[in-house]
Amino acid sequence: MATKGIVLAGGSGTRLYPMTAVFSKQLQIIYDKPMIYYPISTLMIAGIKDILLISTPADTPNFEKLLGDGSQWGINISYKVQNKPKGIAEAFIYGEEFIGNDQVCLILGDNLFYGRLDFLRHAILNNVGATVFGYAVNNPQEYGVVEFGADNKVLSIEEKPAEPKSKFAIPGLYVFDNDVVKIAKNLAPSPRGELEITDMQKVYLERNKLNVETISRGIAWLDTGTPDSLLEASTFIHAIEKRQGRKIACLEEIALEYGFIDRAKYDQTVVNLPNCSYKDYCVQVADDIQGR
Ligand code: TTP
Repeated sequence: MATKGIVLAGGSGTRLYPMTAVFSKQLQIIYDKPMIYYPISTLMIAGIKDILLISTPADTPNFEKLLGDGSQWGINISYKVQNKPKGIAEAFIYGEEFIGNDQVCLILGDNLFYGRLDFLRHAILNNVGATVFGYAVNNPQEYGVVEFGADNKVLSIEEKPAEPKSKFAIPGLYVFDNDVVKIAKNLAPSPRGELEITDMQKVYLERNKLNVETISRGIAWLDTGTPDSLLEASTFIHAIEKRQGRKIACLEEIALEYGFIDRAKYDQTVVNLPNCSYKDYCVQVADDIQGR
């Protein structure tokens, strides 16, 4: 069974206004590239080739302009418009045809992961039902929060609880089996009128099919929904890129490194980039990858 990838990149981005008055949140800049590059890189590194990007009526054309059909990186990117931001779980309704008979990995367009992504590859390979992740943070009340009992048994999942039962927030990265489409269609909207991803997880929990894997602090998980977190993410990426001389989420590099494209196709992709430091980097890094 294949795994399809969905990047959910709509929403209102209210907290980033006025930055989001014209461009959506996921087109904002994280240091040297648009935010959307980061979640796409996560899916690619996890081995996912077929990606559906869902965004707003106004922003979808911008994403198409930026990313095209993905063939330059050896992947397939298709697009769907979400008319109104009626909840994260709506992605599976919009994605029904795209998902087909496969399982699906959903990533929110404003979630950024840095570090070894073995946890995600492992989840994709071994998923039965649903796999989500638990990540200890200082501000769990701003996220879905998972409560663990003895033997790491999941006791509850709560959306933005005023009094969190643990420090484990659930990042915007989920793996669901094919039942997710049917379940999404039967989910009732929450009091705020959205199809909640938390409610989706509760259905899997009731069926004893929710697996929550904790992610170690060796992985950085950042979300970028506020001006502070946006700046912090940029600073983080800048510090690491500068120190290592390697870019994070350079999609051309990832495509070559993970074998989505061969060197001839890579050179063809890179030659089409405008002259800039990003292109210089792509030219230089190819020999490093192949010289290893
Ligand atoms: P949020 O950060 O919860 O919401 P938002 O992006 O609308 O921002 P704000 O709270 O500042 O108004 O959304 C998380 C991610 O999910 C983000 O990438 C947007 C996306 N999203 C959709 O694409 N459609 C939706 O219906 C919802 C609720 C979120």
